[in-house]
Amino acid sequence: MYEKKTALSGALMLLTLLVPSTAALAQHSPFSSDSEQRARALLKQMNLDEKVGQLTEAAGIVMPGLATEKPDNAIAQGKVGSVLWLIDVKEINRLQHIAVEKSRLHIPILFGFDVIHGYRTVFPVPLGMASSWDPSVEEQAQKLAGEDARAAGIQLTFTPMVDIARDKRWGRIVEGAGEDPYLGAAMARAQVRGFQGDKLGPNSVSVCVKHYGGYGAAEGGRDYDASYIPEELFRNVYLPPFRAAADEGAGSFMSAYMDLNDVPASGNHWLLTDVLRGEVGFKGFVLSDAFAVGSLVTHGYAADPSDAAYKAITAGLDMDMASGTYMNNLAKLVSDGKVPMATIDAAVLPILALKYQLGLFDNPYVDESKVDQTLSRPEGLALERKLAARSMVLLKNENHTLPLAKNLKKVAVIGPLADSVHDIEGGWTVEGLFGSGSKSHPVTVLAGIKAALEPDAQITTVAGPEPSKSFLGLLDQFSGKKVLPPPTPEETADWLKKTREAAEAADVVIAVMGETSGMSSEASSRARLDLPGIQEQMLETAVASGKPVVLVLENGRPLDIHWAAEHVPAILETWFPGTEGGSATADVLFGDINPGGHLPVSWPRSSGQEPLYYNHNLTHEPEDRPNFTSRYWDISSKPQYPFGYGLSYTTFKFDNLKLSKTSIKAGEATEATVDVTNTGSVAGDAVAQVYIHQRYGSASRPVRQLEGFRRVALKPGETQTLTFPLGKNELQFWSPQTKVWAVEPSTFDVWAGEDSTAPLHAELTVTR
Ligand code: NOJ
Repeated sequence: MYEKKTALSGALMLLTLLVPSTAALAQHSPFSSDSEQRARALLKQMNLDEKVGQLTEAAGIVMPGLATEKPDNAIAQGKVGSVLWLIDVKEINRLQHIAVEKSRLHIPILFGFDVIHGYRTVFPVPLGMASSWDPSVEEQAQKLAGEDARAAGIQLTFTPMVDIARDKRWGRIVEGAGEDPYLGAAMARAQVRGFQGDKLGPNSVSVCVKHYGGYGAAEGGRDYDASYIPEELFRNVYLPPFRAAADEGAGSFMSAYMDLNDVPASGNHWLLTDVLRGEVGFKGFVLSDAFAVGSLVTHGYAADPSDAAYKAITAGLDMDMASGTYMNNLAKLVSDGKVPMATIDAAVLPILALKYQLGLFDNPYVDESKVDQTLSRPEGLALERKLAARSMVLLKNENHTLPLAKNLKKVAVIGPLADSVHDIEGGWTVEGLFGSGSKSHPVTVLAGIKAALEPDAQITTVAGPEPSKSFLGLLDQFSGKKVLPPPTPEETADWLKKTREAAEAADVVIAVMGETSGMSSEASSRARLDLPGIQEQMLETAVASGKPVVLVLENGRPLDIHWAAEHVPAILETWFPGTEGGSATADVLFGDINPGGHLPVSWPRSSGQEPLYYNHNLTHEPEDRPNFTSRYWDISSKPQYPFGYGLSYTTFKFDNLKLSKTSIKAGEATEATVDVTNTGSVAGDAVAQVYIHQRYGSASRPVRQLEGFRRVALKPGETQTLTFPLGKNELQFWSPQTKVWAVEPSTFDVWAGEDSTAPLHAELTVTR
């Protein structure tokens, strides 16, 4: 049952984990040497059951079919090290008292939860925040979310999700930073800094970087499905954000659900030990995704739960989330001599060190009297409004349709999302998930518009069928909304009639459309990317009225809006903008804020183009050649909007791209400088982006890859000269032929501009 290779790998893992030099430990360690020493001392006092207890994360609530009883007894016996899915502070304190007062060694529990984009104050979904191209947006949001979470008793968040997603059908694209490893790495670092601060401590929350690794490459965009990623693609594209998070001192990682190259991630020694510990140098602990250790059996990888526990622990997976497989099998595997005690010790050590580092031994309880006050801080809402506006992307603005005048007298606001309190915050909201419902008071787009217009403005609304009906009864799993049948032809005709009448009577139509929050999330893949339900018909009806129409999108992934891209004069992407999302949308629509977000993904014309991403390789006949090109018969193979794209109410010019040295030796660095000028009449933010392409070498390289960016605020007429380093970090890659990271002698193209099609070009020679 236990192959030699796995046992050998297990032994190698021990070498990596147990005898690291102090210098190596310090390199990326989230822990101080004091926390480590205290952890080692405590470990010496622990018996096997207590050690396995620390490797067990239990569900804090009773869920039908999952956890059938409260974990009180197990906690008292020291059999539970961590608890998840619990946000009731009284219950958190009650369980903590059991752990600290009744268990033999008084080891506190680590409470974990999915604090993905805010606690009570909900920030834009992560894909939205990545659209800001401003890592400080993520850092500020996660700092506030972390302070709230910690005050409410959560010390471990299952954030950030740093999975690269190249396929928009995959619903979890909403939780990450999109398709690019460089942007993804910047956003990953920012989130670690936001939650953990400069160093993990008594006021911070440990991140759990997920889903390691390659989860975003699920075949067909179907969540949980297998990923097949060649080693070079894994290292060059999927690994960088994880590496960045580890470098930033991430306390823990979460293993992914899916098979990676036929070996489930949660039992994959290459992934969890060889790469993560051996190469990346990660020193925290690895937690499984929920039930993932148990489901190694379901995958057809483990023979039974005991084999699953064996394969996971020897692969390098330290803590079992919710499946109980470690709790029920590890002790016997050790006493039977199949798993060495040293393997268990190596897994327990970083978990204890984290608890010391977080100050849990000194101060394990929540101050219940302060929770509500902290979660309702008004500065949180003000910050949310600011960051939400910063995350919006202006996709189209023909004839200066936007910004709108605030003295408009007749406005039609149409679409099922215009006043949907539930959807504007997106999925994965803490209080909505396992709490008793959201305690925030989200501002919808309709409410935001009303507040911006003068009191005598007439606003006509036509919602259309309610989202779960309009969207063809798709199960909105996170809202728990009832599935309704689609509208009848009579109902549809009636909604379209109302739309036509409202549009004809209005000066401007604002259509708020997209997806429900549950449609892009876990287990929420889509085969079609169109506007669901009768939204497109409502939009076409509004445009047919001849009145100016503004399409405001609320969605968790790019949608197929090819008709709108041609016929609707203005389109604003707001993603799911959060609690103050409606106010922020109005700030942008009425010009109080000039939008400056850019796309962190390539926007497809049709789902048939997926996976569509900008950093693909050249082919033998690239698309712009005349014959036999890489193209479809029926549509362009180019995106509707390219990666990095975004408009503003002003215009920018990029000029004078220069390299400080046009020829360098491999290993040396040059600097690219570029002038950016605001050529319009209002202040605005430009997002300067630098792309490179290696023309030849030991492997084909992407046609373009992002290697630098900066969002800068420019007054009308102002020019700034920006400098970007181009050295080892930017020019190296991992080659499938040489099997090393290296900068190769070659000619490099360098571009700078406002998206991934920027024409401004320079050339760099790299010699041996
Ligand atoms: C499953 C999800 O895949 C993961 O992202 C999440 O953190 C865990 N459940 C815990 O809720």
